[in-house]
Amino acid sequence: MMFWFWFNGEAAPKLAMREVSFRKIFNYLDNFDASQPVVIVETGCLRTPDNWAGDGQSTLMFDRYLQDRSAGGICYAMDIDPVATAACRSFVGPRTEVFTGDSVIVLRDVAERLRASGQKISLLYLDSFDLDWNNVTPSAVHHLKELVSIYEFVTPQTLVVVDDAPMDVVCTQSANGGFDMLREPVVSGKGKFVAEYAAQVGAKNFFSHYQSAWTGFR
Ligand SMILES: C[S@@+](CC[C@H](N)C(=O)[O-])C[C@H]1O[C@@H](n2cnc3c(N)ncnc32)[C@H](O)[C@@H]1O
Repeated sequence: MMFWFWFNGEAAPKLAMREVSFRKIFNYLDNFDASQPVVIVETGCLRTPDNWAGDGQSTLMFDRYLQDRSAGGICYAMDIDPVATAACRSFVGPRTEVFTGDSVIVLRDVAERLRASGQKISLLYLDSFDLDWNNVTPSAVHHLKELVSIYEFVTPQTLVVVDDAPMDVVCTQSANGGFDMLREPVVSGKGKFVAEYAAQVGAKNFFSHYQSAWTGFR
């Protein structure tokens, strides 16, 4: 697949801490039935061209992936900032539709489209409401609301990924200068409440790096 040639040569060297997880995301998408289109829903689109290590360039990569997939697919991407959506549109092809508006509302419109076309989501990628690392709650609540808005179209196979969702560690420094963990690490950042919900409903953690992902939400 030409995509992997491009990913390994162009994208991976610039993705920094997201390389490992994007590689797992695209490997996961490769496992869907090759004769069927895949459906990607993304909140928070590419806003700054070439900002690979900072933001990730997710929409560009999803678009490249879909263009190269023989059975095709569609990416619904959205952002509240019209400057971001205008920039994003100039970098993607016809397999990506970019919407402007609050993701919690736009996702309900996307849900109508999925209902009309009988489609379900292969990859739900949540990366909107920018995070304040000193107060993750507003962003983490927003990302849980996004999951609620589109939940009907999540299947047991849907990979739900939250960006900026590394693990929080609570530890104490021991006498020799090492650190002892006081409890198991838990996903935080944008994914804090999605992770709590995932644990409560028995979703399976697929990975936790700088991004975190689950399957089996339903
Ligand atoms: C970190 S950036 C997305 C980066 C992108 N995923 C990438 O890899 O290049 C976060 C984006 O979320 C958008 N955003 C913030 N609040 C939002 C909301 N309520 N609804 C939709 N988008 C929002 C911002 O305008 C910003 O462009």
